Amino acid sequence: MRRLRQNNLQPMFKETRIVKDELIMPLFFDYNATSPVPIKSMPGQFRYPLSYAEKVAKEMKEAGVHSVLLFGIPKTKDPDASGAFSEDGIVQEAIRRMKAAVPDLVVIADTCACEYTSHGHCGILCGTELDNDASLILIEKIAVSQAAAGADIIAPSCMLDGQVGAIREALDEAGFSNTPIMSYSTKFASSLYGPFREAADSGFQFGDRTTYQMSPANRREAIRESYLDEMEGADILMVKPAGFYLDILRDVRDASDLPVAAYQVSGEYSMIKAAGANGWINENKVIMESLLSIKRAGADLIITYFAKEVAEHLK
Ligand code: PBG
Ligand code: ZN
Repeated sequence: MRRLRQNNLQPMFKETRIVKDELIMPLFFDYNATSPVPIKSMPGQFRYPLSYAEKVAKEMKEAGVHSVLLFGIPKTKDPDASGAFSEDGIVQEAIRRMKAAVPDLVVIADTCACEYTSHGHCGILCGTELDNDASLILIEKIAVSQAAAGADIIAPSCMLDGQVGAIREALDEAGFSNTPIMSYSTKFASSLYGPFREAADSGFQFGDRTTYQMSPANRREAIRESYLDEMEGADILMVKPAGFYLDILRDVRDASDLPVAAYQVSGEYSMIKAAGANGWINENKVIMESLLSIKRAGADLIITYFAKEVAEHLK
């Protein structure tokens, strides 16, 4: 086996490569921020004020990032997530400004309610439970408002049953039949989202998300979740988190011909950052190894907080 591993021959036989067009950079915009606020649980990441939208868009372009995924923290929260679908909402404004500054930057909108609800859950509550069908109406409104603001792709992340079908219909009716849906189709109720709670100010007042997100124990169900979204009209599927779920990523890749995205989530990012900062691992090498593994497992797209630095490195 060592014959083809000689240094000058190696590049010819590299089976998997990280390509910067496949990386998606998540970004946070905070209505109440006046300057970039460092996210303590995610060293190197910030919550940006709206006034930075143009600047950040240009920075991304400059770095070679092809696509971003936007999250918003509204001025105020309420039980109905009204900040999530208002025409001048934080994400809608951020989309408009980024697209105006860099028209060919692909701007993806995370479509969920949890950053906008006072209770922190991903939709409308009935008692202490998420009301699936009432939440579908909310999520349709959010999706249409984001598409109207100029989002290139709509990415529903709330794990409501029927969300892709409902959003597809709402987008088509509103004249956005050309706007693709990247569904968070297989999303686990993972503790790796911990650092994201500070980033998006989306901790919940009570309970957890285990009644709508998937159990990490379930492999067959993971495929069914993605299959259903494909049937409902998803254009891109997703497995989230990525690194602990490479088997699921491979299963979904093999079960569908749709493009599959993988989300390397906040906890995956912060663990690598923390170990790197302590000198316990070689941070840059572990970053590339983690992305390579995700790609090898079958991801066509990788959503990662490392997107900007890796794109710069790949230049
Ligand atoms: C909101 C949402 C979450 C993440 C992305 N969209 C949190 C959650 O579902 O609890 C997690 C992202 C990360 O941890 O990096 N629905
Ligand atoms: Zn949510």
